[in-house]
Amino acid sequence: MTYASASQVVRQILEGPITRPALLRWRRQQFFSEAGFGSYFGLFESFAQAREQLPASPEFDHAALAAEYVDVRTKKVFAYDYPVMWWLERAFGDGSTRVLDIGGSVGVHFHAYRRYFQMPAGLSWHVVEVPAIASIGREVAAHAEAVGLSFSEDLAQALGGGEDIWIAAGSLHYFEDARPGDLLRHCAVRPRHVLLNKLPLHDGEDYITAQNIGAGCFAPMHVYNRRRFIEEIEARGYVLRDQWQVLERSLYLPGFPERSVPAFSGLYFSR
Ligand SMILES: C[S@@+](CC[C@H](N)C(=O)[O-])C[C@H]1O[C@@H](n2cnc3c(N)ncnc32)[C@H](O)[C@@H]1O
Repeated sequence: MTYASASQVVRQILEGPITRPALLRWRRQQFFSEAGFGSYFGLFESFAQAREQLPASPEFDHAALAAEYVDVRTKKVFAYDYPVMWWLERAFGDGSTRVLDIGGSVGVHFHAYRRYFQMPAGLSWHVVEVPAIASIGREVAAHAEAVGLSFSEDLAQALGGGEDIWIAAGSLHYFEDARPGDLLRHCAVRPRHVLLNKLPLHDGEDYITAQNIGAGCFAPMHVYNRRRFIEEIEARGYVLRDQWQVLERSLYLPGFPERSVPAFSGLYFSR
């Protein structure tokens, strides 16, 4: 028996009717502690209900959460970045020069990707972020002489920018109301390319859970039904050109193992 299947068997036993209440108590305690960093807990009706039950926190709008992004993620790419870089480079090759990066942290993708390939002349790369992270992103950009990189805090407003490439990596599910199908319906000019990475998609129904995101902060988040999520984008005139698994990201929901997401997903659409 492999390590993975052995741990699945142990988990199935612990999730059984006798031990489940004790497991949930233990997982809940762990989730709310420092050791719970990165873990998920709870099923909620809405973001508002999740927020009522989570400890008060600024969620992502907290400067301490930028440290790893500034120190590591502006300088390094990970396996799951390669499909994004591949399609992005092709989109640039086709003449696209304007990127809207939704939840792009301090500009991590701009800084890290440009170490790997030539960005086009006249590039405009606009990141929409929460205020604390956008502010650090502007400082990093100034130090790095990152011409073309800009930040703002209002997604609805940014959708009017007319960018021809949208990127959202590990971010859309934390926005209360940002299903890509809806964003594409409301934007002024539809992008030609849509690159979505590190998304919690599964075959079950949509649900809302919460994550311990570190530094004492907790965030509600969506988990989406894969088929509906993709169909909503296709209905806006897009073709799914590529999809990949992000094995480095998974979600185990204590008490509801059937809702777990063994690997997150990446998707590339073009119009
Ligand atoms: C897990 S991080 C991913 C960052 C980066 N895209 C990456 O792949 O490394 C999620 C990002 O989404 C941003 N985010 C979450 N909710 C947001 C909101 N309502 N408005 C703007 N940004 C948000 C967070 O601040 C955070 O930087």
